[in-house]
Amino acid sequence: MKTKITKFTAALAMAFGAIGAGHAATITISCGNSGADYETCKKHADQWAKKSGHQVKMFSPPASTTDSLALYRQLFAAKSSDVDVIMIDVVWPGVIKDHLLDLGKFSKGAEKEHFPAIVANNTVDGKLLGMPWFTDAGLLFFRKDLLQKHGLKAPTTWEELTAAAKKVQDAERAAGQKDFQGFVFQAKAYEGLTCDALEWVASYNGGSIVEKDGSISINNAKAAKALDMAASWIGSIAPAGVLNYGEEDARGVFQNGNALFMRNWPYAWSLGQAGDSPIKGKIGVAPLPKGEANGKNAATLGGWQLAVSKYSKTPEVAADLVMYMTSAESQKDRAIVGSYNPTRPALYKDKDVIAANPFMGELFDVFTNAVARPATATGPKYPEVSQAFWDATHEVLSKKTSGAESVKKLEGRLKQIKRKSW
Ligand code: GLC
Repeated sequence: MKTKITKFTAALAMAFGAIGAGHAATITISCGNSGADYETCKKHADQWAKKSGHQVKMFSPPASTTDSLALYRQLFAAKSSDVDVIMIDVVWPGVIKDHLLDLGKFSKGAEKEHFPAIVANNTVDGKLLGMPWFTDAGLLFFRKDLLQKHGLKAPTTWEELTAAAKKVQDAERAAGQKDFQGFVFQAKAYEGLTCDALEWVASYNGGSIVEKDGSISINNAKAAKALDMAASWIGSIAPAGVLNYGEEDARGVFQNGNALFMRNWPYAWSLGQAGDSPIKGKIGVAPLPKGEANGKNAATLGGWQLAVSKYSKTPEVAADLVMYMTSAESQKDRAIVGSYNPTRPALYKDKDVIAANPFMGELFDVFTNAVARPATATGPKYPEVSQAFWDATHEVLSKKTSGAESVKKLEGRLKQIKRKSW
């Protein structure tokens, strides 16, 4: 039955010239690792299939970016054509560059409509390896109602956040909410911890692990201080279990009404505001705090692109799907339905997008000034660099070592990874 329908649709599309000279192809797209991502990805892919006469198959990657990268590397090693279109993390282009198609040949200049910095990030050796799909930056989500109840304002420094979290946590626990937490974030040993910890370090002016010129900067007193501060939260304003939290674990606690503050990405907004959310209407969003008064607000730059595997048997058709999925129309819908930040500056002036996500307008600078992980500087070695950093951070958070000892050891480890050059 399915084949009959396929043949029928293909014949119809051919008759109307939608496919031109080609045959109907089946494109497998890998997407849907968080929030409303799967739904909207499927919706837009299905729209494209209907319009083009081709077929789409959905492939769900693991929720963690670290696990997804491992999976794709296996597929690439086998030159597998199982997946045609892949969602790739902003830190991957230099790592998997040899396995992706140059989309510049198919984009007809559409990349000019996206933030230039993201396009530059996705361009390796002159090849456009991914079309920007959505961008991310770390944000501080908080309970507006609870801050007001306790006479507090959104914190501007981590020291203020720590004090506010303690005060509200103590009061809410005393009032009977025994599991109430001051602050939840991502501290599992994976890429998400690299993002959170880079924010702490950069907010104390402690640099960004490896700098743009390739120099290793992490062994400094400010970075050590930032890590020690985060360690002080564990078991105090944050549950010990946070050492095993990814994005969705933190969101679960916050969205159930059990935390005052949460560090997360923008997607958490639409889910927290959904009809069935216990905290709908009670969420505030602010830039992540500074490290002391002379520090700076630092949000790690995240985000995802759509890429075509070099091993796809129908690269042109796959590229056509990518262009559809990254169009202004699709990005607008994803912003409204799932609070995924567009990569097209023009959409930040769209009144529907801003009405659904006021923070996208109010915190525009947070998105344009976000701190990049050292992926460009370290190229193919980035995953090793990141793992060394998240392992070092996890040891400090688990109170096995101090910030100062840990950054010193990490410097040595990074020198080993670098050897003569990145
Ligand atoms: C988000 C970001 C991505 C980052 C990941 C870490 O998905 O968009 O860039 O690597 O979180 O967990």
